[in-house]
Amino acid sequence: MGGKPVQLLTYGGFPGPTLRLREGETVRLNFTNNLPEATNLHLHGLHVLPSVDDPLALVQPGESRLYEFTVPKGSAGTYWYHPHVHGRVAPQLYAGLAGLLVVEGPLDALPELKEAEEHLLVLKDWLFSGDRVPAWTHMDWMNGREGNLLTVNATVRPTLRAQKATLRLRLLNASNARYYRLALENHPLYLIATDGGFLEKPVEISELLLAPGERAEVLVRLIRPGSYRLQALPYNRGAMMMPGGSRGDPGMGQGMGQGMGMMDHGGMGGMGDTGMMGSMMGMGATRLETLLTVVAPASPKPLPLPASLAPVERLEPARAAATRRLVLGERMMQAEFFINDRMFDPGRVDVRAKLGTLEVWELVNKTDMDHPFHLHTYPFQVLSRGGKPAPYRAWKDTVNLRKNEVVRIAVPLRNFSGVTVYHCHIVEHEDRGMMGVLEVR
Ligand code: C2O
Ligand code: CU
Ligand code: CU
Repeated sequence: MGGKPVQLLTYGGFPGPTLRLREGETVRLNFTNNLPEATNLHLHGLHVLPSVDDPLALVQPGESRLYEFTVPKGSAGTYWYHPHVHGRVAPQLYAGLAGLLVVEGPLDALPELKEAEEHLLVLKDWLFSGDRVPAWTHMDWMNGREGNLLTVNATVRPTLRAQKATLRLRLLNASNARYYRLALENHPLYLIATDGGFLEKPVEISELLLAPGERAEVLVRLIRPGSYRLQALPYNRGAMMMPGGSRGDPGMGQGMGQGMGMMDHGGMGGMGDTGMMGSMMGMGATRLETLLTVVAPASPKPLPLPASLAPVERLEPARAAATRRLVLGERMMQAEFFINDRMFDPGRVDVRAKLGTLEVWELVNKTDMDHPFHLHTYPFQVLSRGGKPAPYRAWKDTVNLRKNEVVRIAVPLRNFSGVTVYHCHIVEHEDRGMMGVLEVR
């Protein structure tokens, strides 16, 4: 393919090296910053000491930091790492600073899982101008930047030639702002794990919405030979759309810039705020895209599904020590984002909670756009969405809030006291204020 080189920021390549960890082991990560700007390492989703996984501790250029932690028991699942420098997360993540953390545990020895063919799929979109990532426009800060170049493990529309008829896909949405509504042609997906690990048993789904920051593991049973497309179905997250226009340089050469989505922020060059407001048309959406092609083996004989996976603890929201309401708000034209009317301030504690208690958080999205809400350190369970109880129990660290939706979550604040954060995982929104501080004592 006639590509051309582009300048990225990476952990040695994109995606960064996959860190395979075992439950219970102690990990020492020696991290050195060779970038010309401050950065740090966030262990997204791992239940580890907040003073270790500290989003406010920066590693300056040329400096190193040791991240030492114990991988919690029962946490087998798919996690990831990325920088967390407030105000710079969007540019750093977008430019390629992300990698997977895979935690393995006893359940992975289950024959129905062990004998499946495992693939790690990191979904990410890009936008280039010449050989670089262009500067952020006001529009990017408002909506979160999306690019028209869609990749799986940094490859445009790769082909996955399956040797086996059962696939175990570990999926990560590493995009700044793009949502993926995933479906595999002619095949259901069997969801076996969410952000924080295994479900109690596989759940058959026809599609899977993966918001920025979310992970999922699915089993695919290929029953017929042939090629099947893994697609991103159209999804409207309510971003502002610009009329017409294209962004110019599609990126890496012919055939790579497949499809300018309706979310294309083109035509913005040199436009002032007033022009921008005048040309705002309404709500943007992504269109159908093919992400990857799966080629089934010649005479496929898939494994049976595991009858059960791991028990998922039943939390008791009736015994919650506190119920809180966190309201997500925005001042769109200013690209300013709020939780309970306040923008992020690292010197302020927004939520004080007691160690060892369970809390119920009512997450309210009062905007016209989806926001994936993410909490560090303490995995939670979704209780209800729009008043409807969650269909199954699952550990999460990121949950999508559709526009004007209310989602209730149960948050056990256990094991670690300290200071941590929660925020929107459209990282531009995080950079522009949609983050709060939680202190657990
Ligand atoms: Cu993946 Cu605070 O982030
Ligand atoms: Cu995180
Ligand atoms: Cu947001």
